Amino acid sequence: MIDFKQEIANIISKVVSIDANELKGYIETPKDLKNGDYAFPCFRLAKELKKAPPIIAQEIKEKIQFDTNIIEKVEIAGGYINFYIVAEKFTQEVIQELEKEENYGSSNIGNGKCIVIDYSAPNIAKPFHIGHLRSTVIGAALYNIYKYLGYKVIGINHLGDYGTQFGKLIEGYKLWENEYDIEKDPIGELTKIYIRINELCKKDEKVLQSCRDNFKKLEDGDEYCTKLWTRFRELSIKEFQKVYDLLGSKFDYWNGEAFYSDKMQEVIDILEKTGKLISSQGAKIIDLEEQGINTPCIILKTNGSTTYATRDLAAILYRARTYDFDKALYVTSYEQVLHFKQVFEVAKLLGLDEKYTKGLEHISFGMVLLPTGKMSTREGNVVKLEDLLQESIARAREIIEQKNPSLENKEEISKKVGIGAIIFNDLANSRVKDEIFEWDKILNFQGETGPYIQYTYVRTQSVLEKAGITEEIINLENVNPKVLQDEYSQDILKLLYNFKEILEQVTEKNEPSILARYLIDVAKAFSAFYNENKIMVEELEIRDSRLFLTHAVGKVLKIGANLLGIQMPDKM
Ligand code: ARG
Repeated sequence: MIDFKQEIANIISKVVSIDANELKGYIETPKDLKNGDYAFPCFRLAKELKKAPPIIAQEIKEKIQFDTNIIEKVEIAGGYINFYIVAEKFTQEVIQELEKEENYGSSNIGNGKCIVIDYSAPNIAKPFHIGHLRSTVIGAALYNIYKYLGYKVIGINHLGDYGTQFGKLIEGYKLWENEYDIEKDPIGELTKIYIRINELCKKDEKVLQSCRDNFKKLEDGDEYCTKLWTRFRELSIKEFQKVYDLLGSKFDYWNGEAFYSDKMQEVIDILEKTGKLISSQGAKIIDLEEQGINTPCIILKTNGSTTYATRDLAAILYRARTYDFDKALYVTSYEQVLHFKQVFEVAKLLGLDEKYTKGLEHISFGMVLLPTGKMSTREGNVVKLEDLLQESIARAREIIEQKNPSLENKEEISKKVGIGAIIFNDLANSRVKDEIFEWDKILNFQGETGPYIQYTYVRTQSVLEKAGITEEIINLENVNPKVLQDEYSQDILKLLYNFKEILEQVTEKNEPSILARYLIDVAKAFSAFYNENKIMVEELEIRDSRLFLTHAVGKVLKIGANLLGIQMPDKM
């Protein structure tokens, strides 16, 4: 498919002696079609050339030469040069590309570069909360999209399966083993133990000390402590798996924090050698004042225990060596901004090639606020995520039951819709924004939601079905670009043309919401097209062309939704 932006950049490059790739980055897509299909702003050149933008625009326009089969006309508007693509040529290009069928929008731009994505990472013996859900969903979407663009992607679930809280849990379990049935409701019961032991620790310094000792024992491989820890871990993962099954989540590795228990000494040794690991009130820390970070990074606590940060440092070392990553992304809420700032700074002391330390990136996201406010483990007012997902499925089912009582496979469809709604909601807004979780908004079939995208997809499929077209048999022989020149068809074609670029933007900004918003735009464009253009008309050329467009919309919606981790129902 012709890359029109590239084409224009090449044309301009010839007359301004600036690299075409740089120029390509300047080119905009005007909101208003009156201003052409592409616009080149001359403002940035103005400084360099010491001339007013409209004058530069005029000069460039006079000098450039272009193929009139591709570019219809070029006009000046203020400091912009507007390019109008020959509509039929454009239409034909997009149609041809869409006809190629396989993996529309995929590319090899990633060129096998390795991206490590660290996401989900719930904590053993604690509820899988809604923040972990967001991490799981954002991480999975990034995973899929990078992969689709030819990157080698490694997904890691860096489970919180280590740390002082296990010292507390072990102590609590020792004290009250008989009062709790951790087989029946592992996380619920372990949470109760955790809350209770925390209370006791506040009152009794001696208990707190035993907890700390337990963790030290665990680190030293004590048999009893290790046995309990293993059991807590296994039971918890079994619980988490229920959520992952509902979401369809998969990971390449489940190397949690404990995986690094024997890999931290090396980190400590390296840091020791740099002379930067200093003692402070009995702990070993790296001061980061000079780097503009006021809180030092604690590597060893007063009692010699390692920290969350020490384990992340060991993980960086391990991942650099094992995967030779080009980028390592960490998907967590913005509450951990300081943590990652510290860790990424200290990582520079590990003697790794700059390639690795430069590739570290914290992909932070906002909080999910339930109407009742933020949720926390220690107070215990937590919504169980599995319940939340099940509730979404049940609510989706109710709506479907009302709208389409005779539908078959209601169960499966409700699941796709209920889960899809939650996933989409997590991805729909730019990730740094806090999000308020409201059922009516999330499940609104007419709103900017997952169900709306699914609903639009289903509509495309039912149009095709009525016309006797299935995914396998698309015998549309009479497609003609000439009859797709109306504004509604063109709107759709423009969007479909942009799909590849949208996916690239997602990876540039690590922002899946760009794809989510795009799918809404495609769905809206299809609704407008569908309302304005009758599809099943007598004229075969028009009918086939419109059916083709319908098919293409369905295809892109499905590919896009799947990349976000959302399944498409065939009916709903
Ligand atoms: N378990 C952590 C939490 O729940 C998230 C871990 C993120 N990954 C990492 N490498 N630190 O907050």
